[in-house]
Amino acid sequence: MSKEMSSNKEKIVTIDGPSGVGKSTISRMVAASLSFTYLDTGAMYRAVGLKLQEENVDLTDDTAVRECLSTVSLELLPASTESDDVGVLLNGRDVSRAIRSVEMAMVASEVSSLPAVREKLTRMQQEIGNGGKIVAEGRDTGTVVFPNAAWKFYLDATPEIRMQRRADQLKLQGKQVDEKELLAMIVKRDHDDQSRSIAPLCKAVDAYIIDTGTLSIDGVSKAMLTRINQL
Ligand code: DC
Repeated sequence: MSKEMSSNKEKIVTIDGPSGVGKSTISRMVAASLSFTYLDTGAMYRAVGLKLQEENVDLTDDTAVRECLSTVSLELLPASTESDDVGVLLNGRDVSRAIRSVEMAMVASEVSSLPAVREKLTRMQQEIGNGGKIVAEGRDTGTVVFPNAAWKFYLDATPEIRMQRRADQLKLQGKQVDEKELLAMIVKRDHDDQSRSIAPLCKAVDAYIIDTGTLSIDGVSKAMLTRINQL
């Protein structure tokens, strides 16, 4: 671990990047190596998206969105194995599986552009990260949520490579995959996440950029741990 981390930096690792770039697997590996807590911020956007969808809330009505959000409580459950996603309890109900569909990813992306949603979840994430020792993964963790994080990473890869990885995962789960449609969804989500006016997906100026298209998952996690130990 860093010997001379500057005192105004928080003991937090942030890992941002577009969907399907390998963030979750790599974040889990890095968190386990450092004995830090893994914070999957995307899971929170997915759970809130599910709630707003279930309640049929008009997303153009800020008051209605805020009213619905005021009833939301979220609890993140640690992943049971290294290859598992973290679980989420939404008002005590286990929605871990329900939030992981391709459709819920699109809903999460849509609701993530709403100011009320971003305010609530950013605040919750900052509270979780308060004590440090966190590996936070998402779109804005290095830019907005934890701007003082000591170690910031931005992972990238082409949409085609990311689509292929996601398609392989879905096929392993026995799901039918239309690769053209999947690629179109990835490109749309990239565009929406990068072009929203609040906390868009972008590289923090002080983030270390890693192309995950040319490295194995192990290679990426080793490169990150090396850098963390150097800084
Ligand atoms: O990482 P993920 O695929 O689970 O994220 C789902 C969506 O949530 C993503 O398309 C945009 C949104 N999101 C966000 O806006 N900010 C974050 N820090 C994490 C996710």
